[in-house]
Amino acid sequence: MKVISFLNPKGGAGKTTAVINIATCLVKSGYKIAVVDTDPQRSISNWNQQDKAIFDLYTAENEKDVYQVRKQLTGYDYVVIDGAGSLSIITAAAIMVSDLVIIPVASSPLDFSSSGSVLSVLEAQAYNRQVPAYYLITQSKNHANMLKIIKNNIAHTGIPRLINSLSYYEGFKTSLIDNGTIFDTKNGKAIAIVQLLTSEIITLLKTEGNDETSI
Ligand SMILES: Nc1ncnc2c1ncn2[C@@H]1O[C@H](COP(=O)(O)OP(=O)(O)O)[C@@H](O)[C@H]1O
Ligand SMILES: [Mg+2]
Repeated sequence: MKVISFLNPKGGAGKTTAVINIATCLVKSGYKIAVVDTDPQRSISNWNQQDKAIFDLYTAENEKDVYQVRKQLTGYDYVVIDGAGSLSIITAAAIMVSDLVIIPVASSPLDFSSSGSVLSVLEAQAYNRQVPAYYLITQSKNHANMLKIIKNNIAHTGIPRLINSLSYYEGFKTSLIDNGTIFDTKNGKAIAIVQLLTSEIITLLKTEGNDETSI
């Protein structure tokens, strides 16, 4: 079992959208998936009121629930944690139990700085065990300058970024409103992006996992 957390205290960064679509893609790829909603606003739980999710959904009330994840959700291939919308003790707990941290950032320079607080917790955690972390650019449009700025910002942190971005597609918004995912739309391009991103993450977990045993 591997734990992947999507963390950024900035609301609107694209955490929940990434979690719902990537977790769905992982189930469609044959994996057994649990998603843990740690957001006090319960975005995923609200989205799933009609119980349409094809992954198993759990809620974490507090950091203790997050610490239990590795013990209690052992039957899953991957546990995906949707981070809270503020830097909380839950974020620190999620980093501690994670094999991989993904930091979604909306492709707007104004949105970038709040992700720094996640990096501080990652740095502190590295004294115990280094957790691999990657930025994920979300909501990017065909705007070369904007992308350049955000990529530069990321490069300055020294944290790598996922090759695939969760580009802006209306389908990501509309499918959530209908309690579905991008797989319920006919948007082949957006679906392909989620599939590419998901395989990139699986590959990373396999290679990072191997590195870990040699530390
Ligand atoms: N790739 C995307 N394309 C279009 N809209 C997106 C995309 N990612 C997120 N959004 C929209 O942006 C808003 C915030 O995204 P959300 O995933 O809820 O962020 P967070 O969980 O970080 O607060 C939502 O309305 C969501 O539908
Ligand atoms: Mg959210």
